[in-house]
Amino acid sequence: MTSTQADIDVSYSVSNEFFELWLDKNMHYTSGAYLKGDETLEQAQINKIRILSEYAEVDENSRVLDIGCGWGSAMDHLVNECNAKEVHGITLSTAQLEWVHKRNLPRAKAWLQDYSTYVPEQKYDALISIEMIDHLCSPKQAREGKAVDIYRQYFNKLGEWVEPGAHFGFQAILSDRLPRKRKDVEDLAFTANVIFPGGRNPRMEELVQAVRPKWEIIELRTQRMDYRNTTAEWLRRMREHEAYIRKTWGDQLFDDYERYLDVCVRGFEAHWCSDVQMKLLRVER
Ligand SMILES: C[S@@+](CC[C@H](N)C(=O)[O-])C[C@H]1O[C@@H](n2cnc3c(N)ncnc32)[C@H](O)[C@@H]1O
Repeated sequence: MTSTQADIDVSYSVSNEFFELWLDKNMHYTSGAYLKGDETLEQAQINKIRILSEYAEVDENSRVLDIGCGWGSAMDHLVNECNAKEVHGITLSTAQLEWVHKRNLPRAKAWLQDYSTYVPEQKYDALISIEMIDHLCSPKQAREGKAVDIYRQYFNKLGEWVEPGAHFGFQAILSDRLPRKRKDVEDLAFTANVIFPGGRNPRMEELVQAVRPKWEIIELRTQRMDYRNTTAEWLRRMREHEAYIRKTWGDQLFDDYERYLDVCVRGFEAHWCSDVQMKLLRVER
């Protein structure tokens, strides 16, 4: 099973106010790109979405779809900075959708919609999807050898929504080495089971296989330490609000998110996880 809508609500619908306390002000809940190394989180998030919109070759003539649009951070950049002609977003989180609607973005629409049953009215010129694929294959399905097929279904379906020649700015968290200590394995399992139920980070080699036959990888950059810096900054900001979070949402929520963000920081440092951005080209087939 992929993450269901109930799973997604566990991960993203805790409370918009809670996420607002520690994400950047535009509410990106994915790795920023620290290109110089000493940027603020806000700047790193702008770098990230600039890279992806350049990968997708978005301009003022583009109709763009953001698959797994979160709180609308990329949609905001696409209409306001890239001046895209029309931007659509889909998410499975009710709280996120509410937030996207509150932004009142020009030339933009968003829906509560599972990508697997989405039927666009017309083809798009460009696609963006940022760390949404991490919800599509469960650990059990991966153990059964189904991961590449599940990821390929996603890339094939998205390939139907554009014409050959279109570009796709794609970003995913990756699994890499396995931790050796029992506590680290338990902390990672806690993150997968409690914070992101139903999800699992793909391996790079699975993605390289799965993009075929519809897409060609034109450019690829990894940003493992960028995600380390992003999660470290989220953790630092969240701890600044510890008393308020404990008082408002209870000790369990603070303790769970502290454990998850702390294992993320250690996991990116220790190569248990990484992050990749890809420029994909829809090829003829
Ligand atoms: C880690 S969040 C990233 C959000 C956003 N892209 C960002 O950069 O902040 C993953 C997003 O994928 C969405 N998602 C997960 N599974 C989905 C599915 N099957 N169909 C549509 N959206 C999905 C979630 O609702 C969430 O918005």
